[in-house]
Amino acid sequence: MSAQNAVVENVPKGVYVGGQWREASGGASFAVEDPGTGKRLCDVADGQAEDAKEALAAAVAAQQEWAATPPRERGEILRRAWQLMTERVEDLAMLMTLEMGKSLAESKAEVTYAAEFFRWFSEEAVRIEGRYAQNPAGGSRLLTMKQPVGPCLLITPWNFPLAMGTRKIGPAIAAGCTMIVKPAQLTPLSMLQLTDLLAEAGLPPGVLNVVPSSSAGKTVGPLMSDPRLRKVSFTGSTPVGQALMAQAAENLLRVSMELGGNAPFLVFSDADLDAAVDGAVVAKMRNNGESCVAANRFHVAANVAEEFARKLADRLGSMTLGHGAEEGTQVGPLIDGDQRDKVAELVDDAVAKGAKVATGGSAVDGDGYFFAPTVLTDVPKKARILREEVFGPVAPVTTFGSEEEALALANGTEFGLVAYVFTQDLGRALRVAEGLETGMVGLNTGLVSNAAAPFGGVKASGFGREGGVEGIEEYLSTKYVAVSMS
Ligand code: SIN
Repeated sequence: MSAQNAVVENVPKGVYVGGQWREASGGASFAVEDPGTGKRLCDVADGQAEDAKEALAAAVAAQQEWAATPPRERGEILRRAWQLMTERVEDLAMLMTLEMGKSLAESKAEVTYAAEFFRWFSEEAVRIEGRYAQNPAGGSRLLTMKQPVGPCLLITPWNFPLAMGTRKIGPAIAAGCTMIVKPAQLTPLSMLQLTDLLAEAGLPPGVLNVVPSSSAGKTVGPLMSDPRLRKVSFTGSTPVGQALMAQAAENLLRVSMELGGNAPFLVFSDADLDAAVDGAVVAKMRNNGESCVAANRFHVAANVAEEFARKLADRLGSMTLGHGAEEGTQVGPLIDGDQRDKVAELVDDAVAKGAKVATGGSAVDGDGYFFAPTVLTDVPKKARILREEVFGPVAPVTTFGSEEEALALANGTEFGLVAYVFTQDLGRALRVAEGLETGMVGLNTGLVSNAAAPFGGVKASGFGREGGVEGIEEYLSTKYVAVSMS
């Protein structure tokens, strides 16, 4: 058996409820595909409404005991899980590459990033604190304590199959919450493998329950309408986030939403241009461009735009495309045919409206869902690619004249997740960072993601923060106790 077959073979393929792997109700299953070949990798249990309800019952049954488990114990389970992930980075990365497509180097980086959320929250578990204060009027005391919010539903996307899970699971475990995870239909294998690893790390039955499913409607709907669920955390598109918010209103669930982006990448004329190009390659090409923090549009000072675009086109045009598991691959396939067609449609629209192709510009024929890394210049304002999230390896470049114009272009979107700014002028850097309507800013860097930092957006990019000291707050509620001194 090849190493690739072995990592797929070893993954448990069932639903995980109350510490047991089992078939989905009725024995249903669905196929998981390798986007690098378009071929089936294996079948996975297709969770149904009954499975979701049993998973919630298991989470509810485990909640009280889990909340009472000493924080140090919860932290140590996370620490062991970090250690196991670190030891198994090669196999976890291969599995991720096979189901998601990204290169092995990118998958290894994601496994490390994902594991860091466990390490970070293992350290936060023991720092859940309250307050003690005198009533300003005297006579009594005001005590506040933090308690777990209760059973949570965590819905994860296909683009980062591990990290988007660990940054929800990590703080939930640290805070003392039980949970049901619904992994993305396209990439459930990494999460199923992680589930096994967490059990090995000592996570008690019922704390984490996992229901893979081909139908979010069938599994998520019954959970959201059950008053025993107390929170939903979702990473994915803005329209799905809005629909979940409407459902969450019924039972007034706590909600964290990490939604779509349309990140501007601003290059000022005083920027170090080579550093800006390096940053642009990372901000655009990390994860094949399939990230909500991917730079979506490049706004460059008119007097340096031509040079920037030429250098960026040279770099993107020389990247090696291939199956993610092949040695030397820098850019893997997109997740599926629909995504590749959507990217092609946005490029065609821009070109039809007057944009010029500096490199790439089209899908690649053959097996798998490949799209050539692309740089477009002279992109007109009316091109859809400047307004819509690309989720692919395409960099549209436009120009600006003044700082005010750059800021107005950057903020001219309903989204507000992240923006990137390249300038060597400190005053400008701070002015622009303050003026940007985003939850995050990359200043002279193309990478903001870090387990120790608060990740999240404003406007249509959602709310709530994942990672950092803020991340655990999403899983805690504050209780106030008025204490009489008489
Ligand atoms: C995302 O694309 O949803 C998140 C990417 C990251 O955490 O870097």
